[in-house]
Amino acid sequence: MTGPDIVIAPSILAADFANLAAEARAVEGAADWLHVDVMDNHFVPNLTIGPAVVASLRATTAIPFDCHLMIEDPKRWAPGYAELGAYNVTFHAEACADPVALARDLRAAGSKAGLAIDRDTPVEPYLELLPHFDTLLIMTIKAGFGGQRFLPELLDKVRLARRHADAGHLELRIEVDGGIADDTIAAAAEAGADAFVAGTAVYGASDPAEACRKLRALARAATR
Ligand code: DX5
Ligand code: ZN
Repeated sequence: MTGPDIVIAPSILAADFANLAAEARAVEGAADWLHVDVMDNHFVPNLTIGPAVVASLRATTAIPFDCHLMIEDPKRWAPGYAELGAYNVTFHAEACADPVALARDLRAAGSKAGLAIDRDTPVEPYLELLPHFDTLLIMTIKAGFGGQRFLPELLDKVRLARRHADAGHLELRIEVDGGIADDTIAAAAEAGADAFVAGTAVYGASDPAEACRKLRALARAATR
């Protein structure tokens, strides 16, 4: 795997939306990616931000952006996030008829390509597509809202994907998203995840950078 052994990606969904630039700066040096949750009030009931805000925020920080698109019609919208400079753009398998074609479009537009699997979606049908992706995001909650309880049974999907990726020598990050905190990150790391999204656990803490460092130490200890 190229890049850091462990990726810690604070989710701005739990940050103060009136002070996003300061919230991004608060984790600089401690976070690897900034996880930007884009929700359209159609694919999920919640609504967050779109390309204009992401572009403005991007200009305020050097942290690589990990855009998680919980939107319908990612074919139309996802490449725009790559063009505005996102490091990784992840769209949902449930929202896309031809994930491989969209992964190709994202890479052509300059970003890494990520595939997200929501709570109720099995991972098996997508295993064969993974060579076309840089990131596989396995939801450990139902997508849509922060602050939900981690669902440990969803780690079976992480284990399966990790075995498949290792057997095929794939350069694939396996990212978990939802309820990742001090008491859950070790289980996710043991299952084979190497990228960890944390909203509440980072931005709900009094020192977000310190919360990132602690999560990284816990993930590392679990995989040694
Ligand atoms: C929810 C988002 C998550 C969310 C996680 O659909 O994809 O990224 O911010 O929040 P926590 O870490 O609070 O579960
Ligand atoms: Zn997310």
